[in-house]
Amino acid sequence: MTQPEPDVVRFYTDRYVEADRLDRSPLGRLEAARTRDLLSRLLPPAPATVLDVGGGPGAYAGWLAGLGHRVHLVDLVPAHVSAARRAYPAVGATVGDARRLPVPDAVADVTLLLGPLYHLTGRADRMAALREAVRVTRPGGVVAAATISRHAPFLDLVRQGRVDDGSRPALLAAYTTGVNDPVGGFTTAYFHRPDEVFDEFHAAGLPAPRRYGIEGPLWPLLPVTGGPAEDGRLFDEVLRCAALMECDPEVLGASAHLLTVAVRPAEPG
Ligand SMILES: C[S@@+](CC[C@H](N)C(=O)[O-])C[C@H]1O[C@@H](n2cnc3c(N)ncnc32)[C@H](O)[C@@H]1O
Repeated sequence: MTQPEPDVVRFYTDRYVEADRLDRSPLGRLEAARTRDLLSRLLPPAPATVLDVGGGPGAYAGWLAGLGHRVHLVDLVPAHVSAARRAYPAVGATVGDARRLPVPDAVADVTLLLGPLYHLTGRADRMAALREAVRVTRPGGVVAAATISRHAPFLDLVRQGRVDDGSRPALLAAYTTGVNDPVGGFTTAYFHRPDEVFDEFHAAGLPAPRRYGIEGPLWPLLPVTGGPAEDGRLFDEVLRCAALMECDPEVLGASAHLLTVAVRPAEPG
């Protein structure tokens, strides 16, 4: 196992406010609405024991605790763990690495990995995180992981008017290799193709993973900024389209994120 990338901790501690990411733009609100809709349908009824690995400041952990689940959050960034404790007293929160979870075997009905897989550039590290998710989930429990789609950074930066001859080479490299150079923005990160995440689930002993496009193919049409009051008709159509096409294999990779979900078998492979 390689060391945690220090730039991930620095980025979220000193440079980027994660706490309201899902509220402060139309795209964030789309991601949150769709992720919550998918989790509502894919998770067992409350009260389940949910481990939110890479849970950040607790946007989903707090929401799930409010629904009556028993939620414990683990995150690499101490500032995120402190923020989650402050904002959501019902959520337990611990600093830890997805590749070596400070959690006993088979304690969770559900393990969420909504962050670590796209911050780990090496396949061996992503496999370690997925195998840990399998270990801590009881047989018959659910593992759900978010990944960022390969082309999403390019589309997003074009949408924001931030691609020029200076930034294009790094974006093309990330598109070709999947690996983001943090010098160009964001952090050490990996951008998946849909079949890669399918293969990684299989290799971790999670058979028959189901993949869901989170934002659907129309997200690049959303304005970059704007408050909830402006979301309006276009937002509703983008949301409806995302739900309509969420499992369509021909447009899966057009979403900015994929949610991949599988049940831990009795005997992990
Ligand atoms: C973009 S935030 C997502 C937070 C939240 N899960 C959500 O979906 O809104 C990514 C999170 O993954 C965490 N993370 C990245 N690599 C990790 C690792 N190896 N172990 C645990 N957490 C990690 C980061 O610290 C950060 O809080």
